[in-house]
Amino acid sequence: MTQNTPVEDWTTDYDISDPAYIENPVPIWKEMRERCPIAHTERLGGSWNPTRFDDIRELAKMVPELSSRQPLVMPPPPDFPELSVYEQQIAAAPITADPPIQTWTRRMLLPAFAPKTVATRYTGYTEELCHSLIDGFIADGRCDGAVDYAQQIPPRVIAHMLGVDPEMADTFVGWVNAVLGDALFSPEKRMAARESIREFLTSEVEARIENPKDDLISELIHMEIDSDDAQITTEVVVGISNLLLVAGIDTTWSSIGAALWHLGTHPSDLSRLVAEPELLPTAVEEFLRYYSPVTMARIAEVDVNYAGVEIKAGDKILMNFPAANHDPEHFEDPDEFIIDRQRNRHVAFGSGIHRCAGSNLARLEMTTALQVWLERIPEFHVSDREAMKWAGGQVRGPRVMPMSFPAGRAR
Ligand code: HEM
Repeated sequence: MTQNTPVEDWTTDYDISDPAYIENPVPIWKEMRERCPIAHTERLGGSWNPTRFDDIRELAKMVPELSSRQPLVMPPPPDFPELSVYEQQIAAAPITADPPIQTWTRRMLLPAFAPKTVATRYTGYTEELCHSLIDGFIADGRCDGAVDYAQQIPPRVIAHMLGVDPEMADTFVGWVNAVLGDALFSPEKRMAARESIREFLTSEVEARIENPKDDLISELIHMEIDSDDAQITTEVVVGISNLLLVAGIDTTWSSIGAALWHLGTHPSDLSRLVAEPELLPTAVEEFLRYYSPVTMARIAEVDVNYAGVEIKAGDKILMNFPAANHDPEHFEDPDEFIIDRQRNRHVAFGSGIHRCAGSNLARLEMTTALQVWLERIPEFHVSDREAMKWAGGQVRGPRVMPMSFPAGRAR
């Protein structure tokens, strides 16, 4: 669904909510990169859209001139109370923050996301979760790969991590959809969901101040950071937990779904991965490169001249990591999916100081979800392409994806 008029020229009037851009942005990025590599639009509040790898990497370094305090392009609705710069920065720190707040809030998260910690805490849980989801539909010989599988995994892993009720998973998905998915169309829904998340998390944080539990929220509350800038208040812990919920769900759900979409529409890649399971880590990197889900934004704090482009204070700039990952200057045959691609230094997880803090967990969830699926359902295909629905805008991935396979048995 788009509320806008059709795009006539992608280099002067692009629309990230256009159905063609949502369904398959790859040829559009190619045209933009070749004709106008830092395009501008007045749509959706106005933004710049760099599509070259080198530009994205350079723009990501321009801190604090390009601030992260408003990472979505759509402005809040006019009646929404204006937040101070500090309130914007801690709203979902570290992703919404600039140094120094970004520096110490990121440091608070890093220990919990170290490779070993993530592997120890979440491998068994994720494996069992994936098996139990498949048990729920394998006998039917069909499922919705986006709704019944990909969508179910990240919210439960995040609930497990934060120590909140896993039965809240569907509610989390609804909130996250409104914050990221509907944000382009309905700022009101986005703001209402934002408030619900904050209310929920504030009560969770307050409960743990009294009674700490064995979970990440309790760890964050009682953390000691060796930094004069650090002020770990309830609001800061609510902001960080908010980010984990929002950044950890839509993104990973999109990546798992896109990988299943690819395998369900490319039988030769599917049979190769089933025959050579040792290829999975390499394939996961190619899924991440080709179908990168995340495009966050920056806001210019001052006028900036970058490569001859006059960016004015207050302008939004899309950090188009997905387009950068299709730049022929950096990737051979960038628009081809090569399941055993060897040289693949993609920026699906971002670049610079905000590079994804959850990448180890994201890779673990993707690898486990695909490994368990392929073990139990080695033959499958997307059964109704007409019914497919993608979410787009700033986080892209399948949201409806009917699939068929030979019926199997629950464990
Ligand atoms: C495949 C899944 C994921 C992708 C593609 C992804 C992508 C990204 C990207 C591109 C950024 C940088 C944003 C920017 O520059 O403004 C980012 C930041 C971040 N991500 Fe992820 N992410 C994923 C999963 C996760 C998960 C599972 C978590 C944790 C539960 C997470 C936590 C974070 C955090 C905390 C940041 C902010 C880091 C900072 O600002 O210092 N992400 N992610």
